[in-house]
Amino acid sequence: MEKTATRIDWIGSSCRLLKSTAAEFERTRPFEGMSIGTGIHLEPKTVALLMTLRAGGARLVCTGNLNSTQPSTVEFLRAQGVAVFATQTTDPAAHHQSLEAVIAERPDLLLDNGGDLFAIAAEKPYANLLGGTEETTSGRTRLLPMRGHLNMPILVINDSPIKQFAENRHAVGQSLFESYLRFTNRSTNGKRVTVFGYGACGKGTAACFRNAFSSVSVVDIDPVTTLEAHLDGFVTPLRQEAIRSADILITVTGFAGIVTAADLPLLKEGAILMNGGHFPHEIDVEAFRSHADISGTDRYEAEHIETFHLKDGRSFHVLGAGHMANLAGPRPLGNSAESMDLGFALQARCLERIARGEAGAESCVVPVPADIDAMVANAYLDLSR
Ligand SMILES: NC(=O)c1ccc[n+]([C@@H]2O[C@H](COP(=O)([O-])OP(=O)(O)OC[C@H]3O[C@@H](n4cnc5c(N)ncnc54)[C@H](O)[C@@H]3O)[C@@H](O)[C@H]2O)c1
Repeated sequence: MEKTATRIDWIGSSCRLLKSTAAEFERTRPFEGMSIGTGIHLEPKTVALLMTLRAGGARLVCTGNLNSTQPSTVEFLRAQGVAVFATQTTDPAAHHQSLEAVIAERPDLLLDNGGDLFAIAAEKPYANLLGGTEETTSGRTRLLPMRGHLNMPILVINDSPIKQFAENRHAVGQSLFESYLRFTNRSTNGKRVTVFGYGACGKGTAACFRNAFSSVSVVDIDPVTTLEAHLDGFVTPLRQEAIRSADILITVTGFAGIVTAADLPLLKEGAILMNGGHFPHEIDVEAFRSHADISGTDRYEAEHIETFHLKDGRSFHVLGAGHMANLAGPRPLGNSAESMDLGFALQARCLERIARGEAGAESCVVPVPADIDAMVANAYLDLSR
């Protein structure tokens, strides 16, 4: 029989670790009689995690994050009987209402992304909250000062070495490379690429473009990291030269103002600028738009490319208005299913640990326990053999 399958089905079948975890949870039911409140991007990869938690007996109460809610995912979850309080919105007030609605259901566990749910729970504590997980570094930074109020186990997924290398180092580079091709339909061969930032994400990005036959330069403000890039075989010119020579310029630092209007005189004719860092402030696109040296712009609506023409005859292009390129532009797919499968398997195991009462208040805002890292690594390796 032929069945029309969806992207949610495809991603679900690609997340093999979560599939096997769900099969185990159906037998062991670690969340029987419990509710889990979630505040994480509502998109197909998260569905695979949510369905795994539900297989473990959890009642789910879900919302998303600002700007990333996919209506087809919400529709799917509601059809599965999951309570979803979310709209696709960029309005922080509307988003906050959805977060409040999740906490009003008094979930026993929270799965947070950016500390939004735990921040509300710290202000309005309720007795049955056992603890939960936080996905990001920014969430950890936000929750650390609230430890005294929270006083419950909260395990931070981003601090796992698996998340660091599987997603940040390997997946971000691949998906930024894929995004360059997807936006531009141009080649990387023989192009001179400059990567700003040689942290986990920058390392993968530099490697992916080098593997695609580009000549890659790296700029990092940390001299030790720059030395690492040099010994890894990348060119490490001074900043000005790195900008002047670049056909493709990629920022992945996490900091604002990496490429600004002051750099306009340096840009090579036809340069393509893109950002992979979390916030759209690494490339100062707003300043380009109003700058006196810009004589005009072409906006390629469907491609999400903006071309800036300079008065001296040069032009350059910005992809996705400087937003994280792998989550912007036409058909953004984000990081690979496998990398998210690993990170979400850590999520499922950490929530299981807290549900079973095996982590106490001393584990408030701490990394994933090492034995969970080992368990998830072994499970992934077993499936790959
Ligand atoms: N696009 C995605 O899917 C995705 C996924 C994970 C993380 N991120 C984001 O990518 C960014 C980088 O993450 P990371 O894990 O690589 O961080 P990291 O801290 O490991 O690395 C950042 C690097 O940038 C360097 N840096 C800082 N300021 C600089 C400057 N002015 N010029 C040059 N280099 C500079 C730092 O010295 C550091 O080596 C963050 O914003 C993070 O949130 C994006």
